[in-house]
Amino acid sequence: MKIALFSIKSYDEDFFKKANKDFGFELSFFETKLSINTTELAKGHDAICAFVNDDLSSEVLTAISDLGIKLILMRCAGFNNIDLKRAKELGITIMRVPEYSPYAVAEHTLGMILNLSRKFHKAYNRTREGNFSLNGLMGFELSKKTIGLIGTGKIAQVLIKILNGFGARVIAFDPYPLADKGNLDFEYTSLEELYQSADIISMHCPLNDKTFHMINSETISQMKDGVIIVNTSRGGLLYTKDLIRGLKTKKIAGLAIDVYEEEADIFFEDKSTSIIEDDSLMRLLSFPNVLVTGHQAFFTDVAMNNIVETTLNNAKSYFSEKLLDRNLVSA
Ligand code: NAI
Repeated sequence: MKIALFSIKSYDEDFFKKANKDFGFELSFFETKLSINTTELAKGHDAICAFVNDDLSSEVLTAISDLGIKLILMRCAGFNNIDLKRAKELGITIMRVPEYSPYAVAEHTLGMILNLSRKFHKAYNRTREGNFSLNGLMGFELSKKTIGLIGTGKIAQVLIKILNGFGARVIAFDPYPLADKGNLDFEYTSLEELYQSADIISMHCPLNDKTFHMINSETISQMKDGVIIVNTSRGGLLYTKDLIRGLKTKKIAGLAIDVYEEEADIFFEDKSTSIIEDDSLMRLLSFPNVLVTGHQAFFTDVAMNNIVETTLNNAKSYFSEKLLDRNLVSA
């Protein structure tokens, strides 16, 4: 069976080649993203493997269906970039990796929170230049701070456990609350209450029609003055223009984002010698209290191994007609 893999970097290729020794698929690696201009590369393959910023719109799905492809393997958890209705109409099966390491993302989120609370990003540059002054580096402690999580799924649950260790008060909103909180120490609140009482707000919900731009001027105005916002979920949850306004008025005292709503043509690429045309991103990068990482939260060795193993297992289950239901997005 032949699989065409898109948006492949050298590290992806290394992990896939190693894991594929146990599966024996024919893998074609393409560095380019999947888009209407690149679908032809999939000709002669039985499945496509795609990532977070690949284009799986109706037009692209139709084009790959015309090539006879009936399986899309997402090597990620999110599937907000797929036109699911069209995929169903075309009879395309979509599988994903629902969980590969919630620890990877939860720990990265904590790292971002600590960076903003203790200004490591500023101190790192300063000390390398021989500047050991503490002016402007005053931090704050997480202990007794109220941290509001939007979504209490797999990643948020790991983060709650970590934050409990810091002695922070954790509150959360989820339209589908956990029936059993186990030994996690947190309270469910309404979204309004969370906005009003959280010192730090961290996003852990999916991007969909209901959550698109849920952080905007109107919701920011309900938040505490000096709120810190962290997003390791999906860029579209936050309306960038309103964030910039909130940062300029100092309503928002810190912002950490691993995802960005217009990241598709920028993240995962080395743009250090290019002119970046996205003025909003460049404005964000100019604030001293904004930290941006390039969709890096998932990127650990454990997570990569799990992603690759699960993706190849998904393919195996499809071709052997023993579909792994838990990894199905649509069939
Ligand atoms: P999950 O599916 O386990 O949890 C999501 C939770 O959000 C569920 O409990 C669900 O009930 C809740 N939810 C749904 N609609 C909501 C709403 N309107 N408001 C509040 N909560 C809502 O997902 P998981 O694995 O915890 O992932 C969370 C997010 O992290 C996803 O958006 C995923 O795409 C993103 N992610 C980001 C990565 C990165 O590298 N930056 C890597 C992996 C996931």
